[in-house]
Amino acid sequence: MLNGTLDTIGRLIEPGRVSRRVYTDPDIFELEMQRLFGRSWLFVGHESQIPNPGDYFTTELGRQPVIMIRHRDNSVRVLLNRCTHRGAKVLNERSGNAPRMSCLYHGWVFDSDGKLIGVPVAEGCSANFDTNDFGLAPVPRIETYRGFVFASLAAKGISFDDHLGGMKANIDDLADRAPDGKLALDAGVHRYMFHGNWKLQVENVLDSYHVPFGHASTVSKDGTQFARREGDERGAKVIEKDRTAADWKIRRSYDMGHGHGWTSNTKLDDDKRSSPVYEAYVNALAAKVGEARANDILKPKFHNSLIYPNVSIMGLNIHVRVIKPIAVDLTEVNVYPIRLVGAPEAINAANIRLLNVTHSAASFVQTDDAESFFRVQKGLQSQLTEWVDISRGLGAEDHDQDTNAPRGKATDELVVRGQYRAWLDYMREAA
Ligand code: FES
Ligand SMILES: [Fe+2]
Repeated sequence: MLNGTLDTIGRLIEPGRVSRRVYTDPDIFELEMQRLFGRSWLFVGHESQIPNPGDYFTTELGRQPVIMIRHRDNSVRVLLNRCTHRGAKVLNERSGNAPRMSCLYHGWVFDSDGKLIGVPVAEGCSANFDTNDFGLAPVPRIETYRGFVFASLAAKGISFDDHLGGMKANIDDLADRAPDGKLALDAGVHRYMFHGNWKLQVENVLDSYHVPFGHASTVSKDGTQFARREGDERGAKVIEKDRTAADWKIRRSYDMGHGHGWTSNTKLDDDKRSSPVYEAYVNALAAKVGEARANDILKPKFHNSLIYPNVSIMGLNIHVRVIKPIAVDLTEVNVYPIRLVGAPEAINAANIRLLNVTHSAASFVQTDDAESFFRVQKGLQSQLTEWVDISRGLGAEDHDQDTNAPRGKATDELVVRGQYRAWLDYMREAA
C-alpha cells in the first residue's frame, strides 16, 4: 500500500523510466486527485461557451463538479456544483441558461454569482440561519487568458502567470489567426472515453514517434498521411523506405516546464495550402492585420501543445482537447472545435468538418490512439515487469534560445520526462 511519503513516490520515477504503478495503482490515482488535480491550474472552459448572462457550462476539475457561469455584471464565475443544503449537484446539464439555479432536491435557489436567494418553507430554518453562509462556493482561484478560463482548487500555489509561462505563445498563435483576434468554442464537442489512465492521453498529444506506426492506416503507399486542412495539397510525409521520413524526424519538441510542452511543425506544412476557401480566409485576415502580419501569423509554428495537466491545444487541425481523469483506468476526453471569429463561414465549417475525420469518437486518427491506450493499460497488468521506458533522446536535448527551453526531436520522449518531473513536484509535496 502506498503511503504517499516523499520517499515512496520518488521511487516510482527514474531517469528515463517510470513504474507501471503510476498508470495502474488506484492509491496513486487518489493521490493525484488530491495533490495534482487538487491544486494545479486546470483548464475549465472558454468564455465563448457562455456569451450571455446566465449562460452556464458544467464540467469537472479532477473529479469535482463545477459550474462556469456568466453573472449579470458579465463576469465569469466558477462555482462548485454542489448544493449547500444536502449536497446535490445543482446543474445537471452540460450547458444552458440559468440566471437562477434551482436545486432539484428541495428547491433551494441560487443566483448566478452563487448567492443563495431562495429557500422553500423558510419557517423550518433555524433562527440563526443566514443565507450568506450558504452560497455556492467559488473555486479559490480563477484566471483568464484570451478567453481561456483556468481555475485552481487550492487557495495558494504558483501564480497563473508563472504557471502558464511560455505556453501563452501557443494560445496567442491560435487566437491571432482569427481576424477579430478571438476564438469561439461554440461549435459542439466530440466526447470519447477510453479504458486507460489519463496520462496516456496527456503523453500522446506530443508523441511524434507513434504516428507512422500507430496511424499506419491513414498513410498512403508513398508514406504520406492524408491531407488534413482546408487547402492542403498533400499531407505530411511520415514514412520513406519503410522508416520514419527525414522530414518527420526534423520536427522538434519543447519542454516548457511545469509539465507543459509543444511540438513544432517545421517546413512540413509551409506554403502548401491553397484553395478558394483558404484564400478568402487569408484575405479576411490580411484586411484586419495587414498582409505582412497575416503571413507571419499563418506560418505554421506549432503542431500540438499541452498545458499540463488537462488541456491540449492543437495548432494543425485546430481544436482544444480537455482530458478528464475518472478512475485509474478510465478517462474522458472532450474535443472542442474552434471557430476563428471574423473568419469566413466556409473556413470555419471546413475546420469543424475536419475534426470529424481526425478526432471524433469515430475518426480515422483518434480511434488508433484510443486502441493503443487500451492495449497499454492491458499490457501493464503484467506485474513481473516493473518499468515503462521513456528514455528516447535522454541527454540529447539542446537549449533553444528563442523559447529558453530544452528542445529535442519530436520523436524523442523529452516532453514525457518533463511531464513526470512536474508530476513528481506535485505528488511529493504533502497537501
Ligand atoms: S440538496 Fe439541494 S435543496 Fe436540498
Ligand atoms: Fe496519435
